[in-house]
Amino acid sequence: MIRNWQYLDDYEKHRAEILAAVDRVFSSGRLILGREVESFERDFASFCGVPFGIGVNSGTDALFLALKALGVSAGDEVITVSNTAVPTVAAIRAAGATPVFVDVEEDTYLMDVTQLPDAVTGRTACILPVHLCGQTVAMEPLLAIASTRQIPVVEDCAQAAGATYRGRRAGSMGAIGAFSFYPTKVLGTFGDAGMAVTADAALAARLKRLRFYGMEGSYYSEEEGYNSRLDEVQAAILNLKLPTLDAQVERRREIAALYAEGLAGVGDIALPAVRDGREHQFYLYTVRTGRRDALMQFLADRGIEARINYPTPIHLMRGYRFLGYEAGSLPVTERLAGEILSLPMYPGLSDDEAGRVIEAVRAFFATGTQTA
Ligand SMILES: Cc1ncc(COP(=O)(O)O)c(C=O)c1O
Repeated sequence: MIRNWQYLDDYEKHRAEILAAVDRVFSSGRLILGREVESFERDFASFCGVPFGIGVNSGTDALFLALKALGVSAGDEVITVSNTAVPTVAAIRAAGATPVFVDVEEDTYLMDVTQLPDAVTGRTACILPVHLCGQTVAMEPLLAIASTRQIPVVEDCAQAAGATYRGRRAGSMGAIGAFSFYPTKVLGTFGDAGMAVTADAALAARLKRLRFYGMEGSYYSEEEGYNSRLDEVQAAILNLKLPTLDAQVERRREIAALYAEGLAGVGDIALPAVRDGREHQFYLYTVRTGRRDALMQFLADRGIEARINYPTPIHLMRGYRFLGYEAGSLPVTERLAGEILSLPMYPGLSDDEAGRVIEAVRAFFATGTQTA
């Protein structure tokens, strides 16, 4: 079976170090907001090229608290995309605001920033680009639009740790970058974890308060806050994994290069576009084909796990119908949902296994199976 994730393998391989880190935390007696969190905050922020990192409970909370720290509240609008993980939108709603969706580019699946000027209204309080699959949105034009209108930007970097745009790390370009360390992510841990990073000292101080009941010291709240702390145990594991992040991303890029070479010119399949000046970190290797469901089944029959990220755009989900969007309102997003397929992609995938995936995809397009 060729899977599409690897944290179990990571555990097998690094079991002794992981358990030693967990043991270190437990025996220290310092279980909440201790040295492991401090050290991971410092090192991950520095990896992103900004001075401040605030460890929180999840990527969703990193987005939610980022919006709260910027003062986003009920009645405000936040511009984002509908082809993202539900938490992007859940975080906007948790802050009390209304998500406003723009469409995406067909070949990168990323926010089409040319649609932003028309989407901005007097109530726009934030622009929230999602660096989906591991490639950054066109940040220069986006930031230009945002700064002329004085609208803050929060980057959803849940899928983009290690990606860059013109030499700048994902998360370092907006007012705040929000990361997830969910187990399957490029930098993942063994539970929930997230971080907000920023270059702004005042925002950093506010994020720190908000994740801890609004408190700066003990038992006294400066403002209404929440409980969203990064756990010491998860931070200890992340401290182990962070130094390997660059190498893991490098291996993902090698696999992407194998796919790009092996699948070039094959049948009715479009490979992910990578724009100049952007270093994709290939959290996902997502292709497009009109025969997506048949291809997915063909691969599954051969023990290859492909996934759909994501099968239903959020504006068409029952849980978000109240937002008032209808089928046809975001045509590219809606078409892509029926065509995208993420091939196996994780650093532990061997060249041989990548070769088997390529052979299977080629075999699918070479036979009559495509009409299935
Ligand atoms: C694009 C995107 N945004 C936000 C999140 C939320 O992260 P978490 O699961 O850590 O809350 C995720 C991951 O699930 C994601 O993929």
